[in-house]
Parts: sequence; C-alpha cells; structure tokens
Amino acid sequence: MRPITVSITGAAGNIGYALLPRIASGAVFGPDQPVVLKLLEIEPAMKALDGVAMELYDCAPPLLHDVVCTSDPEEAFGDAQAVFMVGAMPRGPGMERSDLLRANGPIFTGQGAAIAKAAAKDVRAVVVGNPANTNCLIAIHAAKKHGLGPEHFTAMTRLDMNRATAQLALKAKAPIRDVSHMIIWGNHSNTMVPDTTHARIYGMPAGDVINDAAWLKDSFSPTVQTRGKAIIDARGKSSAKSAAHAAIEHMRQLWVGTEPGSWTSIAVYSTGKHYGIPEGIVYSVPVTCPGDGSYRVVEGLACSAEVKALMKVSADELVSEREAVQSLL
Ligand code: NAD
Ligand code: LMR
Repeated sequence: MRPITVSITGAAGNIGYALLPRIASGAVFGPDQPVVLKLLEIEPAMKALDGVAMELYDCAPPLLHDVVCTSDPEEAFGDAQAVFMVGAMPRGPGMERSDLLRANGPIFTGQGAAIAKAAAKDVRAVVVGNPANTNCLIAIHAAKKHGLGPEHFTAMTRLDMNRATAQLALKAKAPIRDVSHMIIWGNHSNTMVPDTTHARIYGMPAGDVINDAAWLKDSFSPTVQTRGKAIIDARGKSSAKSAAHAAIEHMRQLWVGTEPGSWTSIAVYSTGKHYGIPEGIVYSVPVTCPGDGSYRVVEGLACSAEVKALMKVSADELVSEREAVQSLL
C-alpha cells in the first residue's frame, strides 16, 4: 500500500509525544496503512524533536515509512493528506484558554497559508492548539487567501465529548460503550454546551436513566466544562494522553467514517445555515462522516429553549474572539 503523508506540528511537545507512536501504529489510518510522518517544531525545540524521532524509530513500528523533522512549515506540510495542528503554547494555572489568543493566534496565519500552498489538495487539518476554535478560524482565513476552502479545517471538541460520555457512564454505573449520542455545542471553553438531550445509555434516553436533573445541571455540565483546568491543577500540565487520543478519534472518524446511526462532535466553520449559529465562526456541532474526509452537520435535532440560550452564549463568545483577532483574518 502507498504511504500517506501526515504532518504533526508541535511534535516535540506533550501531546506530540503521546500522539506519534499511535499514528505510527495504525490507530488513525488503519493497521495496513504505511505513514510518512512530517514533524514541525520551532528552532529551539529541534534537538528535542530529534530525540522524539529516535524514540519513534526505537518502537520499530512496521507502518512507519519515513520521518521528516523540520522547522520549515512548507516542508512539514508538503503533500500532507492529514495535519494535526498541535503546536501552540498551553495555558497554565489561572489562565483561560482565550488568554492564549495573542500568543498562539499568529502561528495559525503562517501555518494555514503553508498548508494551502504545500499540502495535498484533499488535505484535512485538525486544530488542537488552544484556543482551538478561533485558531482554526485564523487558519481558515489564511488558507482561503491561497485557494483552500474552510471545509479542510476543523477544531477538536472530541475530548469534551469523551469527557462527557465517561461522566455519564460513571454516574449511571454503565459501561462506557453503552453511552452514545452526546453532543458538545460551541466553543472549547467554559461556555461549551454539553447537551445530553439526545444522549442514550443502554439505548434509552440518558436523562431517564440518570433521573437526576439537578446533577446534570449543577455537577455534570461544570465538570465537563472545566475538566481541562482540573487536569492542569492535578498534573501541573495540560492534558496530553486524553488530548492525543481525542485527536486520533477526530481524524479517524473523518478518515474512516462514523458508525451508522451515530455521530461525533467536531468544531466546524459555520455557514449560518444550522441551529441559528452565526456564519463565520468555528462552532462545535454533531456531525456524521461518510469516511472520505468530509462531514455533514446532523440536522433537525430538537433543542430546548435552555440549550438554545446556552448555545447563544457560546456563539457570542466566539464572535468576541473573532473580533479580538480581526487583524489576523
Ligand atoms: P507543549 O508546550 O508540551 O507542546 C507544544 C509544542 O508546540 C512545543 O514543543 C513547542 O515548541 C511547539 N510549538 C510552539 N510554537 C510552534 C510553532 N509555531 N510551530 C510548531 N511548533 C510549535 O503543549 P501541549 O501540552 O502539547 O499542548 C499543545 C496545545 O494543545 C496547547 O495549546 C494546549 O492548550 C492545547 N490542547 C488542546 C486541547 C483540546 O481539547 N483542543 C487539549 C489539550 C491541549
Ligand atoms: C483541555 O481541555 O484539557 C485543554 O484544552 C487544555 C486546557 O487548557 O484546558
């Protein structure tokens, strides 16, 4: 089988360390698909990146065809069919993710343009670096100037969906595999809306199985919304293994598709046609993926007035973030 080219930015960082061996072991593109990994880092991290590449070879993963380490974005994205945009500063204690806009936003202008110029024409890029939704918007604008459309870029809220799914399973004392159809709406921030309206446990409405509306509102939602901070407080570093795993699942579902009858949550460029979400922000919605790299927003889901109001708060926040980075668009 011909190898595919996969680019990972920030490859010497925490998430990169957890992500690379799994991509090289077939977790995203399948157990028979050889991969060329192109790893992008900034100059001061190149020595550490060499060490990461050495360790990668030391795993001797049968699917690893080649590794390229570079600090040149166009070289890193050359012919890439899949890109993991991880490279960005993480927040520390006491910071909100949006505090990172000033530091990280400019990274995504250069990289969005470089992807449009150098990557394969059917490239799919997932933005992980925070604040992920608005960094993705910045990359979309930069890529558009070089002829690549917004459908090639998505931002990751799969980690939030996984967190929510696991919390429901724990509460219901149900196996995680028996929880499905969680939705994350909006921004990967404290305003995200973990919506259990359509979630199922053992195929039944999650609300009926849990039977504790106060817990859903006062415990479940805040736990999911602030889980990133809880991890930072506990580990002293932001989530890495779970973030890498979510990035793998995000890309795998774009690549091989969602299961029939199920969906996933992905932050996508809003066309203004769904659920009253304003046009021109990157907003998390439930999607199905046919398996060719594209996604379709799940339409026609009922949203309560309460959920709609919360969705608007998250949309308003994303509109404010867009205003804050206007000079980069
Ligand atoms: P880290 O600091 O360990 O690693 C980041 C790496 O990116 C570093 O090696 C750094 O040298 C590199 N980097 C910085 N600027 C770069 C550039 N211009 N080009 C290429 N590489 C560059 O951080 P981490 O823990 O791996 O987290 C990475 C990002 O992912 C952070 O912004 C973090 O907040 C975010 N994150 C997002 C989610 C999510 O759910 N969306 C989850 C966890 C972490
Ligand atoms: C997370 O949700 O774990 C990441 O976005 C890291 C953070 O800053 O919360």
